[in-house]
Amino acid sequence: MLILGLNMFHADASAAVVDNGKILFAVAEERLNRRKHFGGFPALAVKACLDAVGAKITDVQHVAVGQDSDANLAKKVQYALANPAKILNFIKMRQRKEAMRGARSLLARAFDVDVRTLKFQEHHLEHHIAHIASSYYCSPWEKAAGFSYDGSGDFVSTMTARCEGNEIQVLDRVYLPHSLGSFYTMICEFIGYKKYGDEGKVMGLAPYGKDTYLDEIKKILALRNGSFQLNMSYFKPLGSNQGMQVLPDGTVRLARHFSEKMEKLFGEPREPYTEITQRDMDLAYAMQHCFEEVFFHLLNDLHRRVPGENLALAGGCALNSVANGKLFFRTPFRRTWIQPAAGDEGLAIGAALHTYHAVLKQPRREQMDHAYLGPEFSEAQIESDLKSAGAKYQRFDRGPLLETVSDEMVKGNVVGWFQGRMEWGPRALGNRSIVTHPGLPNMKDVLNARIKHREWFRPFAPSILAEAQPEYFEHDHPSPYMLHVYKIRPDKRKHLCAVNHVDDTGRLQTVTREENPLYYDLIQAFSRKTGLPVILNTSFNENEPIVCTPREAIDCFQRTKMDALAIGPFVARKDGT
Ligand SMILES: [Fe+2]
Repeated sequence: MLILGLNMFHADASAAVVDNGKILFAVAEERLNRRKHFGGFPALAVKACLDAVGAKITDVQHVAVGQDSDANLAKKVQYALANPAKILNFIKMRQRKEAMRGARSLLARAFDVDVRTLKFQEHHLEHHIAHIASSYYCSPWEKAAGFSYDGSGDFVSTMTARCEGNEIQVLDRVYLPHSLGSFYTMICEFIGYKKYGDEGKVMGLAPYGKDTYLDEIKKILALRNGSFQLNMSYFKPLGSNQGMQVLPDGTVRLARHFSEKMEKLFGEPREPYTEITQRDMDLAYAMQHCFEEVFFHLLNDLHRRVPGENLALAGGCALNSVANGKLFFRTPFRRTWIQPAAGDEGLAIGAALHTYHAVLKQPRREQMDHAYLGPEFSEAQIESDLKSAGAKYQRFDRGPLLETVSDEMVKGNVVGWFQGRMEWGPRALGNRSIVTHPGLPNMKDVLNARIKHREWFRPFAPSILAEAQPEYFEHDHPSPYMLHVYKIRPDKRKHLCAVNHVDDTGRLQTVTREENPLYYDLIQAFSRKTGLPVILNTSFNENEPIVCTPREAIDCFQRTKMDALAIGPFVARKDGT
């Protein structure tokens, strides 16, 4: 039974294909059309899904969309009536949403087929149920607490649920304008990070700050018996899309979130690309601290209602790996399953799996045990692209390839590592990665100067052999999708100086041979030579969506100062040796 999951006309548009409960392929449109966070119709992603499984659009039996414009309608109307200036905007949004409801006609147009040949059933699922579904149904659990939080989706910012068997029973919703995601976005904007998706950058700035503004920022958020409210005097009125606009061409924009009150309290907002002052760092600190306090308050309340150790977590705020790493110490939950595509691209998977298990009542036999769900390319294709780019390269068998690449890393060289299927979700997990030595003092600056050009305060991440995690980190819950930050053990910090953040933490990826045998063996080869079962892993890109095709990887290698490119069995070096 073929189900196509979609996130469309919303940031991070994506498609996923599920066959008898197994996720066969999933990709975000931005990786294919190269437009970051693209929020239009994911036509290329749908085509890629169908090509990957050898199906035609007429073979699809169900189409599931992770958005339901009718969900929470009463709350939306109530909000619009209370904010007369927003009524016109509300009506326009309703009209646009009505226009996009028809996945059938959009797919017929995209595939140039008669709409009458499309026999699939169409399902629309509320945004946050789709988020929770994207984690719970992928987990191995029969029972869990479900939690989703983000800026907004279908007029809700936060949802809690009891997940059992095939069912996801919604317990509570936090409606707009109250939103932890909007709170985070507002302060990020104030300190000069105004683009959609910048929040993850500012998370790395927080540990440089002090508690100067903690009391002031606390006033923005009020805890209320397992829920929370924003003090709206700090915000501009944002409307029912909470300040996120998707333009007709699919570009995602953020409206200004903060009000004049923020300027009165904290002075001029910082302009992008200007110097970051202690004030900005202190605001980042207070923002992260208050965000965590509310998150743990909500989780502790959820645990009282759904006791147990398992937490299925998703939504854009679930990418806050610092908060995820701390929840084991601040709540009774002992295990997390977090969808690697915790942001809105994950809705495609959530909607498809919910249709299969909750709507069609099919049994749960599959679980998601890796994130390598994207496109892959043949050796012939890779070689042809290397030739047409004029690259000099050598072919290696598996063993010598690992020896060659680990030798490069031991020397402190920076290697583009392009292998197998592309990762699903925002993190590079060893198939579209740039890798190097994690223990050389100048490595962070070298990477930034030569390739990544990131802000000075953003840390690079370690990939570690799973069995070595307890020796290097102060917590042993696995982090397969780079979604947890833990303290690095004191005696290991100097050995991991290029991935040890200012607060002695690392956003680790734990790697098992079952998940990614080639990447595991690469780390092991490096470990044999250095005694370190850890390598530095950053995404394979330069201010663009992560590379998807061999041609994009070769382009990135040639235009940056990367030392070598290991692409499939081939290795190309800058010096041509
Ligand atoms: Fe979302």
